Amino acid sequence: MERRFAPDLMAGQVALVTGSGSGMGRATALEMAACGASLSLFGRRREPLEETAAMIRDGGGTAFVVSGDIRDEQSIDAAMDAIGAEYGRLDVLVNNAGGQYISAARDITNKGFEAVIRNNLIGSWQMTRAVAHRFMFERGGSIVFVTAVSARTALTGFAHTVAARAGVTGMMRTLAAEWGAYGIRLNAVAPGTIRTEALGRYPIPPEKWSEMNRSVLNRLGRPEDVAGTIIFLASKLGDFITGEDWYVDGGETLHLGHDARDMINAEMFAARERAQDRRG
Ligand SMILES: NC(=O)c1ccc[n+]([C@@H]2O[C@H](COP(=O)([O-])OP(=O)(O)OC[C@H]3O[C@@H](n4cnc5c(N)ncnc54)[C@H](OP(=O)(O)O)[C@@H]3O)[C@@H](O)[C@H]2O)c1
Repeated sequence: MERRFAPDLMAGQVALVTGSGSGMGRATALEMAACGASLSLFGRRREPLEETAAMIRDGGGTAFVVSGDIRDEQSIDAAMDAIGAEYGRLDVLVNNAGGQYISAARDITNKGFEAVIRNNLIGSWQMTRAVAHRFMFERGGSIVFVTAVSARTALTGFAHTVAARAGVTGMMRTLAAEWGAYGIRLNAVAPGTIRTEALGRYPIPPEKWSEMNRSVLNRLGRPEDVAGTIIFLASKLGDFITGEDWYVDGGETLHLGHDARDMINAEMFAARERAQDRRG
């Protein structure tokens, strides 16, 4: 792995990264471990978390797997117990777990909308609340939310998740104002289009993502691009930064009118028609 931070940047710190079995969560966990942090890895499927843990241990780092669901309070409480027993402290939380499906807003049902809000907004709140009460009100800490570029542009096909992520950003700012007194910093990182496994789950051919991409740097983002920014904000490098919402999008949202919108619409409606044809 390309080293970007000092190997002792996070020495002695314990970090919990949700959704660390894949994509940006895994990249963040690996890089935090390379900075000397001890990691707690959280997600629903144990196997990918174990893979991340093995990668961390291979590099000489420390990792502990706690599987669970951010939508489920009981599994969050169990994770807090397990982390408390394993490490006795928690200094950093990265609320990265989340997901959504692409759909024209007219096709989103109330149930589908609620499911996306539950995962991306309520799940992040529940995890944040648990970590703050269990560990951070007493000794401070740092929390970073992974959101989406919802404040500068429309995200066609993602009305549900845009609502959730904008909610997270607003919540983050208010918590930052209320919890600074406890020594807790909270920030958000909004990724543009990042090449992870998640892109493969959308009904958009892989080559189209590059074609639709409007990054002025002329490439899709890498999980490491986001991980580096998360670590900057979470670690002592970001010691005087709180309540901020940082974009990591290669300038994708600098464009007014964001013409990828038309291509996303075209792909989305083509997928819908294919599904309708299959159903007959
Ligand atoms: N890739 C992009 O272009 C992009 C852009 C903007 C924002 N984002 C957001 O950034 C975050 C990371 O994205 P990614 O691309 O790295 O996606 P990813 O590979 O799908 O990672 C999401 C992770 O979250 C976990 N997760 C999902 N729901 C969960 C739940 N209820 N409880 C616990 N864990 C859960 C998943 O593991 P399990 O399934 O095992 O639980 C998975 O490891 C996500 O919130 C994503 O929506 C992605």
